[in-house]
Amino acid sequence: MGYRDIYSTWQADPEAFWMDAAKGIDWVTAPNTALTDTGDGLYEWFADATVNTCWNAVDRHVEAGRGEQTAIIYDSPITHTKREISYVELRNRVATLAGALRAKGVEKGDRVIIYMPMIPEALEAMLACARLGAVHSVVFGGFAANELAVRIDDATPKAIIAASCGMEPGRVVHYKPLLDSAIELAAHKPDFCVVFQREQEVAQLMEGRDYNWHGFQYGVEPAECVPVEGNHPAYILYTSGTTGAPKGVIRHTAGQLVALNWSMKNIYNVAPGDVFWAASDVGWVVGHSYICYGPLIHGNTTIVFEGKPVGTPDAGTFWRVIEEHNVTSFFTAPTAFRAVKREDPTGDCITKYDLSCLKQVYLAGERADPDTIIWAQQHLNVPVVDHWWQTETGWAIAANPLGIEELPTKLGSPAVPMPGYHVEILDNAGQPVPAGTLGAIAIKLPLPPGTLPTLWNAEDRFRKSYLTTFPGYYETGDAGMIDEDGYISIMARTDDVINVAGHRLSTGGMEEVLAGHPDVAECAVIGVTDALKGQLPIGFLCLNAGCARDHSDITQEVVKRVREKIGPVAAFKRAVVVERLPKTRSGKILRGTMVNIADGMPFKMPATIDDPAILDEIKTALQTLGYAPD
Ligand code: COA
Ligand code: AMP
Repeated sequence: MGYRDIYSTWQADPEAFWMDAAKGIDWVTAPNTALTDTGDGLYEWFADATVNTCWNAVDRHVEAGRGEQTAIIYDSPITHTKREISYVELRNRVATLAGALRAKGVEKGDRVIIYMPMIPEALEAMLACARLGAVHSVVFGGFAANELAVRIDDATPKAIIAASCGMEPGRVVHYKPLLDSAIELAAHKPDFCVVFQREQEVAQLMEGRDYNWHGFQYGVEPAECVPVEGNHPAYILYTSGTTGAPKGVIRHTAGQLVALNWSMKNIYNVAPGDVFWAASDVGWVVGHSYICYGPLIHGNTTIVFEGKPVGTPDAGTFWRVIEEHNVTSFFTAPTAFRAVKREDPTGDCITKYDLSCLKQVYLAGERADPDTIIWAQQHLNVPVVDHWWQTETGWAIAANPLGIEELPTKLGSPAVPMPGYHVEILDNAGQPVPAGTLGAIAIKLPLPPGTLPTLWNAEDRFRKSYLTTFPGYYETGDAGMIDEDGYISIMARTDDVINVAGHRLSTGGMEEVLAGHPDVAECAVIGVTDALKGQLPIGFLCLNAGCARDHSDITQEVVKRVREKIGPVAAFKRAVVVERLPKTRSGKILRGTMVNIADGMPFKMPATIDDPAILDEIKTALQTLGYAPD
């Protein structure tokens, strides 16, 4: 069957479609019901089943006689380390780690925060939680202690599993002091911490609270896989919203198993045993779905890559890894390809490697610009698939499903909706618009298995953020259009979220940090277009009356402040002092207009602007930073 037939099969009977997909999973108790409508726009998948994620991702492959297959390849050009872990080794390691966590009191439903870099132990920690039915929440290493503290207070973990350090090119990221200060800042205190001591830095442990990863596993009884309900939360993953408080996206166990397993074959076109590589980080949703769970559930070999697209050691790193480990499908962010292309525009590094194993490449996380896609197509000679998804959905909303059929590529479009997603473009009144017309992208409820059922501790916020604007739909927060052939294009966010190097960040969150500076009376942060990272944040500061301090001291202080409060990942390096901010007569800051000025794009003078002259002042300020061309 081709894509259209499969999509129609899903449309004709969505529940039967997913019940059929559910056959790919080993259930303790198979589901009788696919979808449960719990009322008021909330839905759950396979709620009456019982199942264990770790069993499906690890043990079942050992039972099926594939224990010697490599499950995880660790390749770290930063530390010059390579290591392979077979499925049977992974099973044993995870069972022991889970046993040690259980011995310290971690049980089904308890939350565990994981704060680790790209090392296999991060996946082992996730799987050990899954084995016990504990709910993990992985926090990205590029966040500052304050962000970790916010997540500790929201998830209230019984335990935190961390590494002593992370490795960035030319810099050791001292995780342990960040962990210590986060616990100090947080109101909630975990019962205990487990620290994986890396060779590159041995951290000081706190007697009675911190345990050494190896020591605490000594002599424990390995844990079996604990069956959980289909609607048991597998994890919480925090992502940026409009305000500084991150949203705790919940993923239910059964839906994730079914959807990810389906996607590995149908979207990523791999068979069990193939090597699948997502060059992302376990701290992001791509890392959850396609470094850890998806490939392992499907019996693939996954790669944990601790490096960067360039500089570790050069722009040929990706191609070296693909050749050396025989990668079939490769997934990265457009920004990573832009970084490689900038250093190797003619693709010379690519020709040094035999990439005959590579069948296809996938890009996501931000808009894939046509130049980057064309460069990749020309130099790699394989299909390059742009696909669109979000932390909330956990897997692709739109893609070119190569495992079903290779559809024609349209540059600038992540192709067509996947089964499970009824995507529509709506106008401000919530009415569908004709093909080719720009509007808000919404998905008709219910969302498919594997997507978020609600937000952790925040059902009202879930409704307000996603369900209220367009009743009966999930609001994606993206704007775009659908053409006559059903191809979707993603044009912009409709909220204050920006996308910096494939990382999702809240300008509202940065504004909260700037506003906390004692000299700042008012501020705005916008995302300006950047050739490498897609977008970069820029801050505008209005100072308190009478503040006579040197402006450059203040801008340096706010830059430092964002790094300290949010983290280096915010890439907040530029701010400028202005007299006033452009606003509507009702006082709303005209951030969109400021972005257009910065990018040198034509714009219509907002009819409700309070004082148009302010825009000239903004332009002049932006020009001092090298933006806003005439
Ligand atoms: N731990 C600690 N710090 C981190 C980090 C981590 N895991 N990841 C990034 N940082 C830091 C970086 O060291 C950098 O710090 P600096 O300001 O001291 O230089 C800062 O956060 C910004 O990082 P980044 O945006 O990654 O920029 P970069 O200049 O280091 O690298 C790219 C640029 C394009 C090579 C890089 O952004 C990249 O590989 N992007 C791909 C992202 C991706 O795969 N996203 C997955 C989403 S699908
Ligand atoms: P995240 O939750 O971090 O994965 O970010 C999700 C957001 O990234 C989406 O809502 C989009 O704004 C953007 N995004 C992800 N993939 C794409 C894509 N293929 N094209 C355009 N934007 C994308």
